[in-house]
Parts: sequence; structure tokens; C-alpha cells
Amino acid sequence: MAGRKKGGRGEEKPVGESRHADAPESGFLQGLQTYGDRDFSIYMRRAFAKSQGFSGEELVRPVIGIAYTHSRYNPCHRHFPELLEAVKRGVASAGGLALEFPTISLHESTLAPNSMKFRNLMAMDTEEMIRAQPMDAVVLMGGCDKTVPAQLMAAASAGRPAIQLIGGPQMTSRYKDDRVGACTDCRKFWTRFRAGQMDAREIDAVESRLVTTAGTCAVMGTASTMAAIAEALGMTLPGTAAIPAVHADRLRASEATGAEAVRLARQTKLTPDRIITAQSIENALRVLLALGGSTNGVIHLAAIAGRLGIKLDLKRLNELSDTTPVLAAVKPVGSEFYMEDFFAAGGIGAVMRELKPLLHLDCRTVSGETLGTRLAVLDGAYVDRRVIKSAAAPHEPQGGLVALFGSLAPDGCIIKRSAASPELFEREGRAVVFSSLEDMAARIDDPALDVTKDDFLVLQNAGPRAPHGMPEAGFLPIPKKLLAAGVKDMVRISDARMSGTAYGTIVLHVAPEAAAGGPIGLVRSGDRIRLSVAKRSIDLHVDAKELAKRKAAAEKAKGAEPALRGYEKLFRTSVLQAPDGCDFDFLRKV
Ligand code: FES
Repeated sequence: MAGRKKGGRGEEKPVGESRHADAPESGFLQGLQTYGDRDFSIYMRRAFAKSQGFSGEELVRPVIGIAYTHSRYNPCHRHFPELLEAVKRGVASAGGLALEFPTISLHESTLAPNSMKFRNLMAMDTEEMIRAQPMDAVVLMGGCDKTVPAQLMAAASAGRPAIQLIGGPQMTSRYKDDRVGACTDCRKFWTRFRAGQMDAREIDAVESRLVTTAGTCAVMGTASTMAAIAEALGMTLPGTAAIPAVHADRLRASEATGAEAVRLARQTKLTPDRIITAQSIENALRVLLALGGSTNGVIHLAAIAGRLGIKLDLKRLNELSDTTPVLAAVKPVGSEFYMEDFFAAGGIGAVMRELKPLLHLDCRTVSGETLGTRLAVLDGAYVDRRVIKSAAAPHEPQGGLVALFGSLAPDGCIIKRSAASPELFEREGRAVVFSSLEDMAARIDDPALDVTKDDFLVLQNAGPRAPHGMPEAGFLPIPKKLLAAGVKDMVRISDARMSGTAYGTIVLHVAPEAAAGGPIGLVRSGDRIRLSVAKRSIDLHVDAKELAKRKAAAEKAKGAEPALRGYEKLFRTSVLQAPDGCDFDFLRKV
């Protein structure tokens, strides 16, 4: 017909008339590229989609984006190709179109200076790709420590319906008579090696036994803590956070997550801001405390909350800690159980069921039901009480983490009391100060170092604004000469973080950090520090006049700021302190 062109799905349209006047705000044709010619944008998008072999029928389905973080640099995500197939199967069976897209993937051992430095970059990448690409809902595939928080931060800001799929923990292995799993045991054996109780041949053999399957660390480290937090927030399907990576259950959970994403896109359209609320953040904190979970969980949860304008108050953390029992005895809490035991014992659901009287049960979850409805299903379910204790007979009566405040940490710091030595909780000690990571590496094992088991080791300049970007260096090694004398724990204080798999009487996240002018930067060897976990206090016993003198001298000695560029510049100029989750100032909700 002269003067008429064929329309998008067979209809005839006059030349010059919009061919897609009804182009939807959902599905594959949403969010068009801005050529200035809307029909041309649609025509181009469909042409390239067809180059992938998609039929017209497929292109009108709800689009489920899948944030895919498989990378050969990320051993914890080694099994993601198989999980992806299962997610896509679930999406297709529910009538959706699954489109995976790559984002940055972060692994603990392959990133320098540390993975935390790149969490915000991954969050920015993920947020922008969710926002810029056409999708009606997104499945977030994460696992290794920083990936899940980065994805939840991104999803909170992007504002699209989102569901988290966790990669799952590794299985344990054996070294001689020991059952082993990364990475609490990594540290245990390394400490033995440093103390001269193992030789090089033995530590080499251990190295091959620590990580023997795909998945995240086998203990309640940061990855498992963040998986639990994702489930406690209501952002995963119930019962899925702790399924081991290599279990068939993990594949079924992946398929179900894909199908749920389609339902989310078609029916409930629940966006993360309706799931992640001040109340669900408190639920997540309760779970974190009941698990004796990673200290990193506090930072990440503060960052996730900040994306929605919610402030995680460390004083409130202490109130929750005082009224939340530690229920799970999974390493590094206790000495026996691993994540596979925790899953078999009942998983996060069993913990939350015990916490029920303390939780906000009316919080909505990603699958539409309230938390209370989710937990009601578990009434009468099996629980292995060796691993997950009852609220009536807990592992410990109070939460695993507490915040301390005082003249050394005016804005707060964190101690994981459940992984610490109670006999060190109430004491005063002499500071032995290391001004940087390099200084510590150079002197910690020096036989001439003036240090005793009663001293407090202090590491400065390891916070978020320092050059290493808040590494997990808070687990300061015990000086070799003390190790050899049988010392197993000491008070250690820093503005750094600590791996969730580590243990000891370790005070972390001191804020403000030394690089931001915090008092921790003014401590000198020989100063007295008073620690009281009972009073939630940490104080530097140096008078104000002397501190002012030191501050002035430090300012005077300051050299020129190094010239920075790129992400390093963005990071150093925008990163917030630990109580605000170390997010970038411009990424929090305004
Ligand atoms: Fe990936 Fe521990 S290194 S979770």
C-alpha cells in the first residue's frame, strides 16, 4: 500500500505516524536510547534483539535482568554458570525473558589493596546497569563478601523490583584428623606455622585442603553473614541463604528465584524500598547478633540502610545486642560447626523462629508475604540444637557484637565479644603503636620490640580514607616472641576492618579514623588505654593539652597530598566513615 509501512507486529501504520504509540513502560521496549527519534530507537533495539535469535513473542515477555558475577578471578563464584542456567530455567518456565548481564565481581584474595575498596564501584556499576537496561525485575547473583552488599546497595538505589540469589557456602574438607574449612582454619593453621608448631611442608599441604569446593567461605564469615542479612531483610526466598553451593537444593533455589522474579515483575512489583525499612534493618541486626556474625555486616548494613535514608545507630545496636541472644555456634563462634552443619540444623529460618518475639513480623518480604507468615510455616520444623540453640538456652545470653564509645573513638567502634576473650574485656593497657601497615609488618616480629602480653597493640592509618582503603588488617598478628611463649590473644585496636572469619579481642572501625583526624592517630607507644566492654567504653588516658600538642605537630609534619586520579581520587575524596557504612557521600539518599 503506497504511503504506508508495516507496523511492529504486523499492523499497518501511515508513514510519519508513530509506529509504537503504545510502546510500554515495561518489558523490553522500556527505557529507550535517546536518539531524538523514538520509533528509530525501538526499531534499532528490536533489530539487535532479533540478532540474538529472540522471536517477537519472547520480546513482549516481562524482562528479568540477572546481575551475573561469574569471573575467573572469583573462585567463590566458580559454580555460577550452573546456577545461571537454573535461574533462566525458572524465568522461562514462569513466562519471562531472562537476560543476564555482567557486572564487576569481587573476590577477597584476588583484589589489591582489598575488595572493600571496590564494593562501592560494584554497587555503582550494578545500580547503573539495572537502571539503564530494560528490565522489569532483577535477580542479583552474589556470594563472596562484598558482592551481596554491593548488590543490595545498588538495588535499593535503582528502585526496580529485585530478588537476591545467594551463591552458598563451601563444603568442608579434611587435613589429617582435622575437619577444615576456609577461613577460620586458614588463620588457625597460619598461627601454628608462625609459632613454629608446623613446618613449611605441612602448611603447604594445608593450603591444598582449605578450599575444596565452589562457594563462599565455609564458616560464619562476612559472606555467610551477608547472606543471612539478605534473607532477614526479606530480599531472598525463605530458607535459601545457607544452602551449600554444591547442593542440588541450591539449583532448585536458583530456579525458584528465577520464577519468583517473574511474579515480582508481573504482580507485586515490590521495590526494595518497600522491603528494606527501618524495621527490617533492625530484624537484620538481630539476626547478625544472634549469629555472632561478621563485624563487616554492621558496615554493610549501614551502607544499605543509608541508600534508603535510614541511619544505622550504633547506640541502638547496643540496645539490640543487650536483648538478643547468640543462638548459632558456627565458627568462628565455637570450635566445631560449619555452614553446612548450620544449613542442616535449620538455617536462618530456625534462628529467626527463635527470635520471633524480638522481630518486626509485619515486615514485607520479596515474595509478598510478611515475615510472620514466612516463619509460621516453620512451626514444628526440625532443628539441630547442637548448632542452633533455643532462645531459652542460648549459646550466649547477649549479642555477639557491641559498639564502644569514648575519647579514643568519639563516633564509635566495634568489638565482636562472641569471638573474643572475656578475661581481656575489663582492663587498662599500655599502647604499642604501629603508624601504618608497613610499620607493623616491619616491626611486629622484631625480637627487640618492647611488648608484653598485657599491652594493647594499636594500628593507625588503616581506615577508609587511608591509602589501603580499610583492609581486613584489624586482626593484628600477635608478635612471634609472644606466640612462642604461648600467648593466644591480646587486645588489638585499629581503624581497620577484620575478616568475619577471624577471632580475638579486637577493637575495629575506630571512628573517626586516623586519616580523618581521629584521636586514634594521636596515640603514642606508652600511652594508657582503658577498655570496658561492660561500660561500652574505650578511652585514651592522655590529657587534652598533650593531645592538642600532638595534633599540631602532626599537622606541621604533614607532607603534600599525593596527586590522585580516577577511582582512587573518587574513593579518597568521597568515602564516608565506618558508622555510615563507608559508602560514598553522593550515593546516599538525599
Ligand atoms: Fe569469598 Fe571468603 S573468600 S567468601
